Amino acid sequence: MESLSLALDTIKTELMNALKTASSPEELEKVRVSFIGRQGKIADLMSSLKTLPVEQKRKFGPRLNALKNFAEKAYEEKKQAFEQKAADQEKEQQKYFDVTAYKPTELRSTLHVYTEIIQDLEDIFISMGYSIANGPEVETDFYNFEALNIPSDHPARDMHDTFWINDTQLLRPHTTNVKIHKMKDEPGPLAVASVGRVFRSESTDASHDFMFTQYEGIFVGKNISLANLIATLESFFQHFFKHDTIAIRVRPGYFPFVEPGLEIDASCPFCSDGCAVCKHTGWIELLGAGLVHPNVLKYCNINAEQYTGFAFGGGVERLAGIKYGINDVRLFHSTKIAFLDQF
Ligand code: PHE
Repeated sequence: MESLSLALDTIKTELMNALKTASSPEELEKVRVSFIGRQGKIADLMSSLKTLPVEQKRKFGPRLNALKNFAEKAYEEKKQAFEQKAADQEKEQQKYFDVTAYKPTELRSTLHVYTEIIQDLEDIFISMGYSIANGPEVETDFYNFEALNIPSDHPARDMHDTFWINDTQLLRPHTTNVKIHKMKDEPGPLAVASVGRVFRSESTDASHDFMFTQYEGIFVGKNISLANLIATLESFFQHFFKHDTIAIRVRPGYFPFVEPGLEIDASCPFCSDGCAVCKHTGWIELLGAGLVHPNVLKYCNINAEQYTGFAFGGGVERLAGIKYGINDVRLFHSTKIAFLDQF
Protein backbone atom coordinates (compact mmCIF):
# COMPACT_ATOMS: atom_id res chain seq x y z
CA MET A 1 0.00 0.00 0.00
CA GLU A 2 2.95 2.20 -0.49
CA SER A 3 1.34 3.52 -3.67
CA LEU A 4 -1.70 4.92 -1.83
CA SER A 5 0.53 6.62 0.68
CA LEU A 6 2.57 8.08 -2.17
CA ALA A 7 -0.55 9.18 -3.99
CA LEU A 8 -1.71 11.09 -0.89
CA ASP A 9 1.58 12.94 -0.69
CA THR A 10 1.69 13.64 -4.41
CA ILE A 11 -1.83 15.03 -4.42
CA LYS A 12 -1.05 17.29 -1.51
CA THR A 13 2.04 18.67 -3.21
CA GLU A 14 0.21 19.12 -6.51
CA LEU A 15 -2.65 20.88 -4.75
CA MET A 16 -0.35 23.27 -2.97
CA ASN A 17 1.40 24.14 -6.23
CA ALA A 18 -1.86 24.58 -8.09
CA LEU A 19 -3.24 26.89 -5.39
CA LYS A 20 -0.08 28.89 -5.40
CA THR A 21 -0.10 29.43 -9.14
CA ALA A 22 -3.87 30.12 -9.49
CA SER A 23 -3.90 33.81 -10.34
CA SER A 24 -7.64 34.46 -10.70
CA PRO A 25 -10.94 33.26 -9.19
CA GLU A 26 -11.55 31.40 -12.47
CA GLU A 27 -8.29 29.49 -12.19
CA LEU A 28 -9.00 28.78 -8.53
CA GLU A 29 -12.34 27.29 -9.49
CA LYS A 30 -10.56 24.90 -11.88
CA VAL A 31 -8.27 23.80 -9.04
CA ARG A 32 -11.29 23.17 -6.83
CA VAL A 33 -12.99 21.03 -9.47
CA SER A 34 -9.95 18.92 -10.16
CA PHE A 35 -9.00 18.28 -6.48
CA ILE A 36 -12.05 18.60 -4.24
CA GLY A 37 -14.82 18.32 -6.81
CA ARG A 38 -17.12 15.31 -6.84
CA GLN A 39 -15.06 13.73 -9.58
CA GLY A 40 -11.78 15.19 -8.44
CA LYS A 41 -8.56 13.50 -7.38
CA ILE A 42 -9.47 13.22 -3.68
CA ALA A 43 -12.88 11.71 -4.48
CA ASP A 44 -11.08 9.15 -6.71
CA LEU A 45 -8.87 8.12 -3.83
CA MET A 46 -11.93 7.82 -1.56
CA SER A 47 -13.55 5.39 -3.95
CA SER A 48 -10.41 3.26 -4.29
CA LEU A 49 -10.20 3.15 -0.47
CA LYS A 50 -13.59 1.48 -0.36
CA THR A 51 -12.19 -1.58 -2.13
CA LEU A 52 -9.44 -2.09 0.46
CA PRO A 53 -9.46 -4.43 3.45
CA VAL A 54 -10.63 -3.08 6.80
CA GLU A 55 -7.27 -2.46 8.41
CA GLN A 56 -6.08 -0.57 5.34
CA LYS A 57 -9.18 1.52 5.56
CA ARG A 58 -8.44 2.26 9.17
CA LYS A 59 -4.94 3.30 8.28
CA PHE A 60 -5.59 5.45 5.28
CA GLY A 61 -9.13 6.62 5.98
CA PRO A 62 -8.08 9.25 8.55
CA ARG A 63 -5.15 10.38 6.36
CA LEU A 64 -7.42 10.79 3.39
CA ASN A 65 -9.93 12.75 5.51
CA ALA A 66 -7.15 14.92 6.79
CA LEU A 67 -6.06 15.59 3.19
CA LYS A 68 -9.62 16.47 2.24
CA ASN A 69 -9.96 18.90 5.15
CA PHE A 70 -6.60 20.40 4.41
CA ALA A 71 -7.57 20.86 0.73
CA GLU A 72 -10.89 22.50 1.58
CA LYS A 73 -9.31 24.85 4.06
CA ALA A 74 -6.50 25.83 1.71
CA TYR A 75 -9.00 26.43 -1.08
CA GLU A 76 -11.23 28.53 1.22
CA GLU A 77 -8.28 30.66 2.31
CA LYS A 78 -7.20 31.31 -1.24
CA LYS A 79 -10.79 32.15 -2.21
CA GLN A 80 -11.08 34.66 0.60
CA ALA A 81 -7.80 36.19 -0.42
CA PHE A 82 -9.18 36.81 -3.89
CA GLU A 83 -12.39 38.30 -2.46
CA GLN A 84 -10.44 40.59 -0.20
CA LYS A 85 -8.31 41.73 -3.11
CA ALA A 86 -11.40 42.56 -5.21
CA ALA A 87 -12.96 44.51 -2.32
CA ASP A 88 -9.73 46.47 -1.82
CA GLN A 89 -9.59 47.32 -5.49
CA GLU A 90 -13.17 48.61 -5.48
CA LYS A 91 -12.47 50.74 -2.45
CA GLU A 92 -9.43 52.17 -4.13
CA GLN A 93 -11.46 53.06 -7.23
CA GLN A 94 -14.15 54.72 -5.15
CA LYS A 95 -11.55 57.13 -3.89
CA TYR A 96 -11.53 58.57 -7.42
CA PHE A 97 -15.29 58.37 -7.93
CA ASP A 98 -16.98 61.69 -7.18
CA VAL A 99 -20.72 61.32 -6.75
CA THR A 100 -21.15 65.09 -6.81
CA ALA A 101 -19.40 65.41 -10.18
CA TYR A 102 -21.19 67.36 -12.96
CA LYS A 103 -23.20 65.12 -15.23
CA PRO A 104 -24.07 66.80 -18.50
CA THR A 105 -27.79 66.71 -19.12
CA GLU A 106 -28.82 64.91 -22.23
CA LEU A 107 -29.34 67.20 -25.19
CA ARG A 108 -32.83 66.68 -26.55
CA SER A 109 -33.44 67.64 -30.09
CA THR A 110 -36.67 69.49 -30.78
CA LEU A 111 -38.02 71.47 -33.67
CA HIS A 112 -37.00 75.11 -33.68
CA VAL A 113 -39.86 77.34 -32.55
CA TYR A 114 -39.72 78.93 -36.02
CA THR A 115 -40.19 75.61 -37.78
CA GLU A 116 -43.05 74.74 -35.48
CA ILE A 117 -44.86 78.02 -36.10
CA ILE A 118 -44.34 77.82 -39.85
CA GLN A 119 -45.70 74.26 -39.94
CA ASP A 120 -48.60 75.40 -37.81
CA LEU A 121 -49.42 78.28 -40.15
CA GLU A 122 -49.16 76.09 -43.23
CA ASP A 123 -51.41 73.46 -41.65
CA ILE A 124 -54.05 76.10 -40.92
CA PHE A 125 -53.91 77.46 -44.48
CA ILE A 126 -54.17 73.96 -45.92
CA SER A 127 -57.14 73.16 -43.67
CA MET A 128 -58.83 76.28 -45.08
CA GLY A 129 -58.34 75.10 -48.66
CA TYR A 130 -55.25 77.10 -49.58
CA SER A 131 -52.30 75.63 -51.42
CA ILE A 132 -48.82 76.52 -50.19
CA ALA A 133 -46.37 78.25 -52.51
CA ASN A 134 -42.78 79.46 -52.32
CA GLY A 135 -41.03 82.04 -54.42
CA PRO A 136 -37.47 83.28 -54.97
CA GLU A 137 -35.67 85.25 -52.26
CA VAL A 138 -33.55 86.96 -54.90
CA GLU A 139 -36.17 88.72 -56.99
CA THR A 140 -36.46 91.00 -59.98
CA ASP A 141 -37.77 94.53 -59.83
CA PHE A 142 -40.79 93.42 -61.87
CA TYR A 143 -42.11 90.75 -59.46
CA ASN A 144 -41.25 92.69 -56.35
CA PHE A 145 -42.38 96.20 -57.33
CA GLU A 146 -43.55 96.79 -60.89
CA ALA A 147 -46.28 94.14 -61.00
CA LEU A 148 -47.37 95.15 -57.50
CA ASN A 149 -48.35 98.55 -58.81
CA ILE A 150 -45.18 100.23 -57.56
CA PRO A 151 -43.53 101.77 -60.66
CA SER A 152 -39.90 102.89 -60.49
CA ASP A 153 -40.76 106.53 -59.67
CA HIS A 154 -43.29 105.60 -56.96
CA PRO A 155 -42.55 106.92 -53.46
CA ALA A 156 -43.90 103.66 -51.97
CA ARG A 157 -40.59 102.06 -52.93
CA ASP A 158 -39.22 103.76 -49.82
CA MET A 159 -41.68 101.84 -47.63
CA HIS A 160 -39.36 98.86 -47.92
CA ASP A 161 -35.68 99.44 -47.19
CA THR A 162 -34.53 97.19 -49.96
CA PHE A 163 -31.16 95.47 -50.35
CA TRP A 164 -30.39 95.88 -54.05
CA ILE A 165 -28.07 93.37 -55.67
CA ASN A 166 -27.78 95.27 -58.97
CA ASP A 167 -30.03 97.59 -61.03
CA THR A 168 -32.74 95.00 -61.53
CA GLN A 169 -32.32 92.41 -58.78
CA LEU A 170 -32.91 92.62 -55.06
CA LEU A 171 -33.40 90.58 -51.89
CA ARG A 172 -37.15 90.56 -51.54
CA PRO A 173 -38.36 92.88 -48.76
CA HIS A 174 -41.75 91.13 -48.67
CA THR A 175 -43.21 87.81 -49.81
CA THR A 176 -45.85 89.55 -51.93
CA ASN A 177 -43.72 88.58 -54.95
CA VAL A 178 -44.98 84.99 -54.49
CA LYS A 179 -48.51 86.17 -55.31
CA ILE A 180 -47.42 87.60 -58.64
CA HIS A 181 -45.65 84.36 -59.59
CA LYS A 182 -48.72 82.32 -58.72
CA MET A 183 -51.24 84.62 -60.40
CA LYS A 184 -49.17 84.74 -63.58
CA ASP A 185 -48.99 80.93 -63.56
CA GLU A 186 -52.70 80.42 -62.87
CA PRO A 187 -54.69 83.36 -64.17
CA GLY A 188 -58.01 82.08 -62.82
CA PRO A 189 -59.54 81.59 -59.39
CA LEU A 190 -56.93 80.69 -56.82
CA ALA A 191 -56.27 80.43 -53.09
CA VAL A 192 -52.58 80.45 -52.27
CA ALA A 193 -50.63 81.02 -49.07
CA SER A 194 -46.90 81.35 -48.48
CA VAL A 195 -44.48 81.63 -45.61
CA GLY A 196 -40.97 82.83 -46.33
CA ARG A 197 -37.97 84.94 -45.40
CA VAL A 198 -37.71 88.61 -46.27
CA PHE A 199 -34.83 91.08 -46.00
CA ARG A 200 -34.71 94.74 -45.15
CA SER A 201 -31.86 97.15 -44.85
CA GLU A 202 -32.70 98.32 -41.34
CA SER A 203 -30.81 98.77 -38.13
CA THR A 204 -31.91 96.13 -35.67
CA ASP A 205 -33.67 96.51 -32.35
CA ALA A 206 -36.10 94.41 -30.33
CA SER A 207 -38.83 94.80 -32.94
CA HIS A 208 -36.83 95.18 -36.18
CA ASP A 209 -34.43 92.83 -37.87
CA PHE A 210 -32.72 92.77 -41.26
CA MET A 211 -34.19 89.34 -41.88
CA PHE A 212 -37.60 88.14 -40.78
CA THR A 213 -40.44 85.96 -41.98
CA GLN A 214 -43.76 86.81 -43.55
CA TYR A 215 -46.92 84.84 -44.11
CA GLU A 216 -49.29 85.86 -46.85
CA GLY A 217 -52.48 84.73 -48.49
CA ILE A 218 -54.36 85.59 -51.63
CA PHE A 219 -57.82 84.55 -52.75
CA VAL A 220 -59.01 85.39 -56.27
CA GLY A 221 -62.47 84.51 -57.53
CA LYS A 222 -65.80 85.93 -58.54
CA ASN A 223 -67.54 88.42 -56.22
CA ILE A 224 -64.84 88.31 -53.57
CA SER A 225 -65.36 91.08 -51.04
CA LEU A 226 -63.97 92.50 -47.82
CA ALA A 227 -66.54 90.43 -45.91
CA ASN A 228 -64.79 87.28 -47.21
CA LEU A 229 -61.42 88.68 -46.11
CA ILE A 230 -62.65 89.44 -42.60
CA ALA A 231 -64.33 86.05 -42.17
CA THR A 232 -61.17 84.31 -43.41
CA LEU A 233 -58.90 86.20 -41.01
CA GLU A 234 -61.23 85.62 -38.07
CA SER A 235 -61.18 81.92 -38.71
CA PHE A 236 -57.42 81.93 -39.30
CA PHE A 237 -56.62 83.65 -35.99
CA GLN A 238 -59.09 81.52 -34.07
CA HIS A 239 -57.16 78.47 -35.26
CA PHE A 240 -53.78 80.03 -34.60
CA PHE A 241 -54.51 81.31 -31.09
CA LYS A 242 -56.74 78.30 -30.34
CA HIS A 243 -59.44 80.64 -29.17
CA ASP A 244 -63.03 80.52 -30.36
CA THR A 245 -63.88 84.19 -30.34
CA ILE A 246 -61.37 86.39 -32.13
CA ALA A 247 -62.83 89.54 -33.64
CA ILE A 248 -61.21 91.46 -36.49
CA ARG A 249 -61.07 95.24 -36.60
CA VAL A 250 -60.08 97.07 -39.78
CA ARG A 251 -58.43 100.46 -40.11
CA PRO A 252 -57.50 102.17 -43.37
CA GLY A 253 -53.95 101.42 -44.47
CA TYR A 254 -51.91 102.09 -47.57
CA PHE A 255 -50.30 99.42 -49.73
CA PRO A 256 -50.11 100.20 -53.48
CA PHE A 257 -51.15 96.67 -54.48
CA VAL A 258 -54.48 96.68 -52.67
CA GLU A 259 -57.48 98.98 -52.88
CA PRO A 260 -58.94 99.59 -50.39
CA GLY A 261 -55.92 98.89 -48.18
CA LEU A 262 -56.40 97.92 -44.57
CA GLU A 263 -54.52 97.47 -41.34
CA ILE A 264 -55.91 94.51 -39.48
CA ASP A 265 -56.21 94.27 -35.70
CA ALA A 266 -57.41 91.22 -33.83
CA SER A 267 -59.12 91.23 -30.45
CA CYS A 268 -56.63 90.25 -27.76
CA PRO A 269 -56.66 86.47 -27.24
CA PHE A 270 -55.35 86.84 -23.67
CA CYS A 271 -57.79 89.18 -21.98
CA SER A 272 -61.24 90.67 -22.13
CA ASP A 273 -60.50 94.05 -20.56
CA GLY A 274 -56.87 94.92 -21.33
CA CYS A 275 -53.49 93.37 -20.54
CA ALA A 276 -49.79 93.99 -21.23
CA VAL A 277 -49.88 92.13 -24.57
CA CYS A 278 -52.56 94.42 -26.04
CA LYS A 279 -51.17 97.43 -24.15
CA HIS A 280 -54.54 97.70 -22.40
CA THR A 281 -56.42 98.45 -25.63
CA GLY A 282 -58.03 95.03 -26.12
CA TRP A 283 -56.66 94.95 -29.72
CA ILE A 284 -53.40 93.84 -31.28
CA GLU A 285 -52.08 95.03 -34.66
CA LEU A 286 -51.40 92.03 -36.81
CA LEU A 287 -51.12 92.56 -40.53
CA GLY A 288 -51.82 94.46 -43.74
CA ALA A 289 -54.57 93.45 -46.14
CA GLY A 290 -57.03 94.64 -48.74
CA LEU A 291 -58.70 93.87 -52.06
CA VAL A 292 -56.22 93.16 -54.84
CA HIS A 293 -55.71 96.29 -56.93
CA PRO A 294 -57.11 95.89 -60.47
CA ASN A 295 -53.72 96.97 -61.89
CA VAL A 296 -52.09 94.00 -60.16
CA LEU A 297 -54.65 91.64 -61.67
CA LYS A 298 -53.94 93.17 -65.09
CA TYR A 299 -50.19 92.71 -64.70
CA CYS A 300 -50.92 89.02 -64.11
CA ASN A 301 -53.25 88.77 -67.12
CA ILE A 302 -56.29 88.24 -64.91
CA ASN A 303 -59.53 89.77 -66.16
CA ALA A 304 -60.24 92.46 -63.56
CA GLU A 305 -63.81 92.79 -64.83
CA GLN A 306 -64.56 89.18 -63.93
CA TYR A 307 -62.39 88.58 -60.93
CA THR A 308 -61.72 90.25 -57.64
CA GLY A 309 -59.60 89.04 -54.77
CA PHE A 310 -58.36 89.75 -51.30
CA ALA A 311 -54.80 89.63 -50.04
CA PHE A 312 -53.15 89.80 -46.64
CA GLY A 313 -49.66 89.58 -45.26
CA GLY A 314 -47.92 89.91 -41.91
CA GLY A 315 -44.90 88.97 -39.80
CA VAL A 316 -44.42 85.47 -38.42
CA GLU A 317 -42.18 86.73 -35.62
CA ARG A 318 -44.93 89.08 -34.49
CA LEU A 319 -47.43 86.23 -34.31
CA ALA A 320 -44.95 83.97 -32.53
CA GLY A 321 -43.98 86.78 -30.17
CA ILE A 322 -47.60 87.30 -29.17
CA LYS A 323 -48.35 83.60 -28.85
CA TYR A 324 -45.24 82.70 -26.83
CA GLY A 325 -44.46 86.01 -25.15
CA ILE A 326 -41.15 86.59 -26.96
CA ASN A 327 -40.31 90.27 -26.85
CA ASP A 328 -37.18 90.45 -29.00
CA VAL A 329 -37.34 89.37 -32.66
CA ARG A 330 -33.57 88.90 -32.78
CA LEU A 331 -33.89 85.91 -30.45
CA PHE A 332 -35.43 83.90 -33.27
CA HIS A 333 -32.17 83.38 -35.04
CA SER A 334 -29.88 83.55 -32.07
CA THR A 335 -28.12 80.38 -31.03
CA LYS A 336 -28.99 80.76 -27.34
CA ILE A 337 -29.75 77.25 -26.12
CA ALA A 338 -31.50 78.61 -23.02
CA PHE A 339 -33.99 80.40 -25.29
CA LEU A 340 -34.47 77.51 -27.71
CA ASP A 341 -34.79 74.96 -24.92
CA GLN A 342 -38.05 76.55 -23.71
CA PHE A 343 -39.99 75.24 -26.66
N1 PHE B 1 -46.51 93.30 -48.28
C1 PHE B 1 -47.00 93.96 -47.13
C2 PHE B 1 -45.87 94.21 -46.14
O1 PHE B 1 -44.77 93.77 -46.40
C3 PHE B 1 -48.08 93.18 -46.44
C4 PHE B 1 -49.35 93.06 -47.26
C5 PHE B 1 -49.58 91.94 -48.02
C6 PHE B 1 -50.29 94.07 -47.25
C7 PHE B 1 -50.73 91.81 -48.73
C8 PHE B 1 -51.44 93.95 -47.97
C9 PHE B 1 -51.67 92.84 -48.71
O2 PHE B 1 -46.05 94.82 -45.11
